[in-house]
Amino acid sequence: MSSTSQMASLAVLVFLVCGTLASGAASVRVGLTRIHSGPGIPASQLVRDALRRDMHRHHSRSGRELASSDGTAATTVSARTHKDLPNGGEYLMTLAIGTPPLSYPAVADTGSDLIWTQCAPCGDQCFKQPAPLYNPASSTTFAVLPCNSSLSMCVGALAGAPPPQGCACMYNQTYGTGWTAGVQGSETFTFGSAAADQARVPGVAFGCSNASSDDWNGSAGLVGLGRGTLSLVSQLGAGRFSYCLTPFQDTNSTSTLLLGPSAALNGTGVRSTPFVASPAKAPMSTYYYLNLNGISLGTTALSISPNAFSLKADGTGGLIIDSGTTITSLVNAAYQKVRAAVKSLVTLPTIDGSGSTGLDLCFALPSPTSAPPAMPSMTLHFDGADMVLPADSYMISGSGVWCLAMRNHTDGAMSTLGNYQQQNMHILYDVRKETLSFAPAKCNTL
Ligand SMILES: *[C@@H]1O[C@H](CO)[C@@H](O)[C@H](O)[C@H]1NC(C)=O
Ligand SMILES: *[C@@H]1O[C@H](CO)[C@@H](O)[C@H](O)[C@H]1NC(C)=O
Ligand SMILES: *[C@@H]1O[C@H](CO)[C@@H](O)[C@H](O)[C@H]1NC(C)=O
Ligand SMILES: *[C@@H]1O[C@H](CO)[C@@H](O)[C@H](O)[C@H]1NC(C)=O
Ligand SMILES: *[C@@H]1O[C@H](CO)[C@@H](O)[C@H](O)[C@H]1NC(C)=O
Ligand SMILES: *[C@@H]1O[C@H](CO)[C@@H](O)[C@H](O)[C@H]1NC(C)=O
Ligand SMILES: *[C@@H]1O[C@H](CO)[C@@H](O)[C@H](O)[C@H]1NC(C)=O
Repeated sequence: MSSTSQMASLAVLVFLVCGTLASGAASVRVGLTRIHSGPGIPASQLVRDALRRDMHRHHSRSGRELASSDGTAATTVSARTHKDLPNGGEYLMTLAIGTPPLSYPAVADTGSDLIWTQCAPCGDQCFKQPAPLYNPASSTTFAVLPCNSSLSMCVGALAGAPPPQGCACMYNQTYGTGWTAGVQGSETFTFGSAAADQARVPGVAFGCSNASSDDWNGSAGLVGLGRGTLSLVSQLGAGRFSYCLTPFQDTNSTSTLLLGPSAALNGTGVRSTPFVASPAKAPMSTYYYLNLNGISLGTTALSISPNAFSLKADGTGGLIIDSGTTITSLVNAAYQKVRAAVKSLVTLPTIDGSGSTGLDLCFALPSPTSAPPAMPSMTLHFDGADMVLPADSYMISGSGVWCLAMRNHTDGAMSTLGNYQQQNMHILYDVRKETLSFAPAKCNTL
């Protein structure tokens, strides 16, 4: 359980280094700060300006259309997804890289943009991965991404100048719990497992990492599904995507992530809420913001200020939905109401679970095998759509400890709806219509 809380925040910091591979002499150096919580992390004005130029350039380029030229027979790409490890905090999607295609699992993350995998050669700076290591030298379709490509993280730093001979863009992206560094490349990716639903997409910009922290257990990289140009969603011009997260404790079952026109949610019980426009500034421009107006436990509406989760004009606050964060994090004023409401319904003794779980409100079960008492559902009241969380989606138990699977942070900072709260739900991100739709589902039977 401790790892679930450690995995809680992802995508915090990016460093961009533009250098020449041949000489090793860095020609331009840019750093940029990606933060989850808005204020408080210093970043030089130079850096912000370079990034803003970069973002503008990116936004002016529309994603490659998956649709055929007549605009009708559009393609959908798919990837099987599964929970990483019994104690891990992430959901993994399987895709394949290069020619011939090499299959690997990667963390599916709607809270960041970069697609990356580990690349040979790498020594002790690479972590152990469950699939064979991808070697760009063994693929006929690998290329170093040109520094003046609109997808290069270094293009802003060139400021329109031609790239130095042999220029390669090197990055070091830091997340809440780890980092990864390498060179930007371009490759053919293959999606889908069966021949019938297989799609090969050339020229996808990705990070070829040769050094990473040791926080990526069970995966061989990450796939960014955010709003930025580097994300898989944007590079495919997918327009919409859907996933269904299997039960958190179930590492055996799989479900399917779909990107493109076949990603759809229909039937009864579907609710839709508009995305709130993201601030233009990175990293907030990456995130999918929702308008959360209130929270109920059972039939009791908690007395939370309607502004508690609102996105401020300066880009602080707000609430995002993030598949790459595990535990939902609420502004403290709201969290304390939720905490008090849960506590008032439970007669078990509380215990300090912070050491073993990192969570703040925990109860002692009579024995390690005791089933937790029944609890009413919790409802998140989004604009025009109620999201109903059964007890198993907001309480987590293990080894005789039963905890509220939510945490608090400073009022005014950004809140995050994590993947623990998204389990057993079919979720559709319609980036064109700017809506999030969801419906309860048995994801392990899809
Ligand atoms: C990840 O691996 C390290 C060592 O390889 C291990 O100590 C840690 O518990 C693992 N984390 C998870 C979530 O399994
Ligand atoms: C990773 O690749 C870069 C660029 O080729 C190189 O400068 C660096 O030394 C490599 N790092 C490791 C740990 O191999
Ligand atoms: C990038 O630079 C090369 C060499 O200067 C040039 O041939 C190419 O057209 C440029 N590409 C873009 C997209 O600007
Ligand atoms: C990447 O950044 C992290 C965090 O700042 C740092 O610990 C790590 O050493 C850096 N890695 C490389 C290869 O520069
Ligand atoms: C998952 O698979 C393993 C090994 O096949 C099995 O021991 C375990 O009971 C399964 N778990 C579930 C939840 O089905
Ligand atoms: C539901 O969506 C799927 C996937 O797009 C589609 O095949 C099916 O026909 C839809 N069903 C209805 C009733 O619209
Ligand atoms: C989070 O809640 C705990 C107790 O529930 C409190 O001690 C702590 O100060 C709160 N943290 C923040 C950032 O408000």
